[in-house]
Amino acid sequence: MAFVRVAAVSEVQPGWVKEVRVNGRTYAICNSGGEIHALDGSCPCTGGPLGQGALREDLLVCPWHGWRFDCRTGVSAYDPNITVAKFAVRISGDDILLETSSPDSPGSTFSRKD
Ligand code: FES
Repeated sequence: MAFVRVAAVSEVQPGWVKEVRVNGRTYAICNSGGEIHALDGSCPCTGGPLGQGALREDLLVCPWHGWRFDCRTGVSAYDPNITVAKFAVRISGDDILLETSSPDSPGSTFSRKD
């Protein structure tokens, strides 16, 4: 496992979301009630920037079309078959460390049918 420092805890207050980029990939770092979680930063709908979304209690809301995902699990609030990959996080002092080599739980693939 390779943990990488991505932010300070003080930069992600409870109820906040921060977009971070590591090796060209984006992640959404969420603070839900004091617990830090990390999801893939790309929404499975059409690639919206989840790290620029809003946190409503435990649900991360995508800024493009409003899809909601449980930031603790990555599971969609609308369809449990749609998920965003979740990544392990460690806290060391004021540092948020992110495991970027492989997700804790993989995301699903989704084909939008417009
Ligand atoms: S891109 Fe996220 S809801 Fe559509």
